[in-house]
Amino acid sequence: MNLFTAVDLETVKERMQQLEVELDRLNFEYYMNDRSLVSDFEFDAMMRELQDLERTYPDLASPLSPTKRVGGEVNKSFRQVHHRLPMLSLGNTYSLAEIEDFEMRTRKLLAGSQFSYTCELKYDGVAIGLTYKHGQLVQAVTRGNGSEGDDITANAKTIPTIPLRLRGDFPDDFEVRGEVVYPFEAFNAMNRQREAEGEDPFANPRNAASGSLKLQDSAECAKRGLMFCMYFMLAPDGIPLPETHYGRLQWAAQMGFKVQPYIKECADIADIESYINHWDQARWNLPFAVDGIVIKVNQTPLWDSLGLTAKSPRWAIAYKFKAEQVSTPLESISYQVGRTGVITPVANLTPVWLGGTTVRRATLVNADNIASLGICQGDSLLVEKGGEIIPKIVGVDLEKRQPHPQPVEFITRCPECGTPLVKAEGEAGYYCPNADGCRPQIIGRIEHFVSRKAMNIESLGPERIELLYQVGLVRTVADLYDLRKEQLVGLGSDSTIQNRGADNLISALEVSKAVPFERVLFALGIRYVGEVGAKKLARHFGTIDALMSANIEQLTEVEDVGLVTAQSVHDWFNTEVHQRIVVRLRAAGLQMASHQQLADTRFAGMTFVVSGVFDHFSREEIKADIEKHGGKVASSVSSRTTYLLAGANMGPEKLRKAESLGVKLLSETEYIALTR
Ligand code: IVH
Repeated sequence: MNLFTAVDLETVKERMQQLEVELDRLNFEYYMNDRSLVSDFEFDAMMRELQDLERTYPDLASPLSPTKRVGGEVNKSFRQVHHRLPMLSLGNTYSLAEIEDFEMRTRKLLAGSQFSYTCELKYDGVAIGLTYKHGQLVQAVTRGNGSEGDDITANAKTIPTIPLRLRGDFPDDFEVRGEVVYPFEAFNAMNRQREAEGEDPFANPRNAASGSLKLQDSAECAKRGLMFCMYFMLAPDGIPLPETHYGRLQWAAQMGFKVQPYIKECADIADIESYINHWDQARWNLPFAVDGIVIKVNQTPLWDSLGLTAKSPRWAIAYKFKAEQVSTPLESISYQVGRTGVITPVANLTPVWLGGTTVRRATLVNADNIASLGICQGDSLLVEKGGEIIPKIVGVDLEKRQPHPQPVEFITRCPECGTPLVKAEGEAGYYCPNADGCRPQIIGRIEHFVSRKAMNIESLGPERIELLYQVGLVRTVADLYDLRKEQLVGLGSDSTIQNRGADNLISALEVSKAVPFERVLFALGIRYVGEVGAKKLARHFGTIDALMSANIEQLTEVEDVGLVTAQSVHDWFNTEVHQRIVVRLRAAGLQMASHQQLADTRFAGMTFVVSGVFDHFSREEIKADIEKHGGKVASSVSSRTTYLLAGANMGPEKLRKAESLGVKLLSETEYIALTR
């Protein structure tokens, strides 16, 4: 071997290790201590340097590199793994009296020993176990059936609060267990995005956390914003651990785990009950869902003497919070028609106070749900708010049932267009099949087409769409591109559209013709094809012609495209009306192939607001750069802003406004990456 190569490799290896250590430290400070020690730009530059080195020298890449945080590994299937020690569940109760029994029983069994309890929050998420050897994460496994679970290591590595390498002192071989939770803020943002993309929202943060851990693409999991909270440490025989549960958690915190600060040592039942009473209310202020309190005997050597029942330890118990529930009369049922024609029944309730808000309406989901709840006319319904924010109808208040109850009959015709409803095989709800003649479906499709993440035609808000529909100018998205100025000027009862408005709309439509193919595909509103799916389909097939002629099997070859999506895409393109729309959109000049994406139009249809100072550009230069790529620059943040480009010392007002409107922030590095 050439001497120079060997020396070189050594230098590269050193630099890679240096970067790993530094990035780990910065991640830790950011996620655990809420401290940014360097700018996003510097962080991204280091991350990119490490990624480049790993690509060039794959043999030197560490499996625990901080680059794994952004994902990239694909889980084809999740290997089943046997837990070294079974993952037990806890006995649980909703009754304080049973907690008192537990405490008394424990005191009797431990008579003569000095001991205390710990009380901590019971996270409402997904239990996982993490194995560490020599301070490095080697495996992450779901609870599964308690003795075997799924190996989700690649996805777990993307969760910032799961340390990949431990700090300070640690046992050589041990396991931590804890819960992966979905903080409300990230959960709500993700659900809003799913809805915008025509996908069903997740019912609650727990389901969403569980679904996220099972994503095939770990890069997707990285984007979900999950959090890991540890609550248990165990080690094989011969490896000593502290002799209190409390001490173990404090040690874990020093190793870099996120441990709840709410854990408390309690001496007796009075302490335990005051902890429970406090959190029964205070839990509503937490940023994640909690469904109870876990009480454990603190002294771990006593655990063995207390032993186990069939599947749970005798040294711990969970007190579960009752979901808050109220009963309120059902006043009427409204039926909403979505852009895909699905009919959603909504209960209009007599307003009632529940878990901190007034509830007036709640979804009844679909026809099957109404039938299985057995809702009759004149009923009062039981409304519940558990760990979730959205109130849920869980049943009928039978005590208030009227004599001679008549079951609610689901409507048989579309409330908007009168078309008889149909129920697709295997689906729980009805839909209106009159896709091309039913007002809310047509309008919903156009709204989706022009929306920010699709064609981003911002001069076309809901009122204008309604107006263009009313006067008969627009029935399909293709009609938009036939609009002429003279048809628009003076439209509306009070001439809503004026000369300038008409010009703006025509030019916005013109600009949208440069929107990349993947977004055009998303804009078409094909069921189950969200923003990400559209991107994958566009990249895989390259052109709309290739996509249109693909059969189901070819469609399922695309990453993350299952049978249901494939069928939906196939059906959409094999419908004559849709084929005509595609022909007209193509003739209008929309992008129908990936390669047509031109470097200088990649920001077409996007509006940027620029704030703060930048490392690589002056303010004027960055604005010119945005415009060079076809984007617009606006001075203030509004719902029409695509990105707030955030430099150092940006205005706090702009930031607040962007956050409240859900406008995405873009760092300078992210911006540069977009222009590459
Ligand atoms: S202790 C051997 N502590 O609740 C006991 N569990 O059935 C180990 N959970 O699925 C569990 N928060 O995932 C413990 N602070 C906490 C917890 C907690 C949530 C979950 C756990 C398990 C279930 C108990």
